[in-house]
Amino acid sequence: MARPIKFTLSVLLACAAVHTILPPITASNSAYPSSYGLETTTDDLIPVRREVYGDGRIFDISHRYHPDMPNWGSSDGIGQFLWLPYSMKNNSEANNSQMKLPTHTGTHVDAPGHVFDHYFDAGFDVDTLDLEVLNVDFSGKQKKMKALIVLLVCTELLSSALSSADDAYPTGYGDEGACLNNIGNLRPERREVYEGGEIIDITHPFTPETPVGTPDGIGEYLTLLLSMKNGSDYNFSELKIPVHSGTHVDAPGHMYDHYYDAGFDIDSLDLRVLNGPALLIDVPRDKNLTAEVMKSLNIPRGVKRVLFRTLNTDRRLMLKKEFDTSYVGFMKDGAQWLVDNTDIKLVGIDYLSVAAFVDLIPSHLVFLESREIILVEGLKLDGVQPGIYTVHCLPLRLLGAEGSPIRCILIK
Ligand SMILES: *[C@@H]1O[C@H](CO)[C@@H](O)[C@H](O)[C@H]1NC(C)=O
Ligand SMILES: *[C@@H]1O[C@H](CO)[C@@H](O)[C@H](O)[C@H]1NC(C)=O
Ligand SMILES: *[C@@H]1O[C@H](CO)[C@@H](O)[C@H](O)[C@H]1NC(C)=O
Ligand SMILES: *[C@@H]1O[C@H](CO)[C@@H](O)[C@H](O)[C@H]1NC(C)=O
Ligand SMILES: *[C@@H]1O[C@H](CO)[C@@H](O)[C@H](O)[C@H]1NC(C)=O
Ligand SMILES: [Zn+2]
Ligand SMILES: [Zn+2]
Repeated sequence: MARPIKFTLSVLLACAAVHTILPPITASNSAYPSSYGLETTTDDLIPVRREVYGDGRIFDISHRYHPDMPNWGSSDGIGQFLWLPYSMKNNSEANNSQMKLPTHTGTHVDAPGHVFDHYFDAGFDVDTLDLEVLNVDFSGKQKKMKALIVLLVCTELLSSALSSADDAYPTGYGDEGACLNNIGNLRPERREVYEGGEIIDITHPFTPETPVGTPDGIGEYLTLLLSMKNGSDYNFSELKIPVHSGTHVDAPGHMYDHYYDAGFDIDSLDLRVLNGPALLIDVPRDKNLTAEVMKSLNIPRGVKRVLFRTLNTDRRLMLKKEFDTSYVGFMKDGAQWLVDNTDIKLVGIDYLSVAAFVDLIPSHLVFLESREIILVEGLKLDGVQPGIYTVHCLPLRLLGAEGSPIRCILIK
């Protein structure tokens, strides 16, 4: 096997890169988790867990989920949050976990409906949160100042509105100059595209109809543990979803049992692969992704991230709860061609599996073997121009999980 050498080398390089930025940090603050995974570079099968990537341009500031993670109102932590209803040791061809988490656990975000019942009822949920607020504003200083001013004005207006017990809510933080144009109208705005197309959300929202590979979709995936209508000061939900439903990412352990056992889980995925320049391309609609098709696409060497838009998007398969095995995906020879002839490390596709159903396991095995390629599945690619974007894909840091929901956006 030539791989161990290559892997060790890349780990060493990563170490070297991290060490060049770590000494000052380590010196100034010994509590900093400087070397997650980096101390162990000899064994090929030890996952690298990073907080800081490569040249220090990416810092992960999310906590990884683990059973002892603190849980609101409990002295026990969150406890078990992953189950394995289908496992390779139980004759399944893949490990398929299910996750269950209180939504306010670990690094998380609150929606207005958390503490305002009427906002909750009106649908101001996490899906309505403004990605421009949650992400860098790339549109230049002037606009930033303007947005800031609008935000400040809105905040003032909002607090006076609230203190007069009004129903007012500023629709969409990004709506410059229009922060209160919808007084009394409690209709949340859901966007796919933000301000002038700078940010495009390519993630499907979770609903009970989100497909997962069964006839029925995921079903009810949110349970209210505490509710304001039942006397609590706030609403507090629990989330339960199979980790390979909707827009999600696969880890090497999904179909390699020894990788799973060695800990190559979602938390070990490389954020440098999941973030960066990406190509969105249309593939021929009349074939699965064979070697021949891959060759015909002429994807240049050096391209590291490709999102493949297929017939699946035209057929709106992700919007149907019933699993449809006739979706388009990679045949084994197509996967092999990509591995052998391109530099692609992020493979994105528009249905639940990158692999065509007839080659489900073989294609996954080809992609996942090197542990260098990351598979993002179930992307929402309709209405987006083919071309070059910056993609940002962030999975949950689910320790021990072979899959995870993932939020992906494109930035123009
Ligand atoms: C294996 O299958 C049995 C019976 O279906 C089930 O009770 C058990 O929990 C499964 N174990 C794993 C690890 O999947
Ligand atoms: C995958 O399933 C096997 C059992 O078949 C188990 O040993 C391994 O730990 C599983 N991986 C995960 C992540 O559960
Ligand atoms: C409210 O409490 C009742 C009784 O405890 C329970 O049956 C019901 O499910 C709760 N409803 C909500 C929304 O929490
Ligand atoms: C918040 O709880 C109330 C019940 O108290 C319910 O009517 C409302 O829909 C809840 N919001 C959510 C998101 O469950
Ligand atoms: C792709 O393969 C599936 C089987 O995995 C098949 O049902 C489908 O018709 C194929 N699609 C095309 C466009 O050839
Ligand atoms: Zn998957
Ligand atoms: Zn997959």
